[in-house]
Amino acid sequence: MNDGSGMVLRVPVKALRPSEYTSALIQVLRSESETVRGKQVLEIGSGSGVVLAVLGTLGAGSVCGIDIEEDAIEASSRLLARLGHDNAEFLHGDMWRPVAGRRFDLIVANLPNSPHPQVSISGRPPNWSAGGPDGRLLVDAFIDGLAAHLVSGGRALMTHNSYIGFDRTREAAARHGLSCEVRLSVLVYVPEEKLALMTPSIVQAEEGRSLHSFGPYTFAEIHIVEFGAPIA
Ligand SMILES: C[S@@+](CC[C@H](N)C(=O)[O-])C[C@H]1O[C@@H](n2cnc3c(N)ncnc32)[C@H](O)[C@@H]1O
Repeated sequence: MNDGSGMVLRVPVKALRPSEYTSALIQVLRSESETVRGKQVLEIGSGSGVVLAVLGTLGAGSVCGIDIEEDAIEASSRLLARLGHDNAEFLHGDMWRPVAGRRFDLIVANLPNSPHPQVSISGRPPNWSAGGPDGRLLVDAFIDGLAAHLVSGGRALMTHNSYIGFDRTREAAARHGLSCEVRLSVLVYVPEEKLALMTPSIVQAEEGRSLHSFGPYTFAEIHIVEFGAPIA
């Protein structure tokens, strides 16, 4: 599969296309562009690289992306180079491992956090949205590693399906001494094939709360959550 640059990718580049989650995260980042200028930024699960491209355009001092998909690393490196961001670094690997011992001013993440098995949905790679039976596998791993990778007073923004339990996220953050608040909530459409794969007990419990079905069409509430590290 050719991404237009002559490079051959195993994953079609359109499989890495941005989603409504990506849009919500970008909306919050654009609303506070003055806080991004000059900052050292990390994204875990950088996919196409578009969130880091936005951060580069907003004046980030440097951007670093991590992804478990080798093709995402290739595609995002190309995107940032094509847009003229020469302060970008992309690392292939699992969650925090590639940046052990490093700290950042701002960390962003749009990680898989849906309660369904690792299968391809809507042409996406299998690890695009699968977060284990309760959807929290990567969210909890993100929070567990966050404090060790933020500078004093640093912040993180993460996409978060409401149906995986915001209270659990706030409790996990508190255990690590991090503040935690919802910055934005929006409804997103849930494709039928994704809903059918989601853990049934969660779908049943959340219908009418964070999931809203109208015949065959279902919408889910999602949040952009902000974490803050204390000032040392
Ligand atoms: C929902 S996509 C978001 C992609 C991009 N940030 C965006 O907003 O369009 C999640 C990304 O996380 C990556 N990912 C999944 N598991 C990961 C892991 N264990 N470590 C690092 N990245 C992971 C996937 O390959 C995918 O690119």
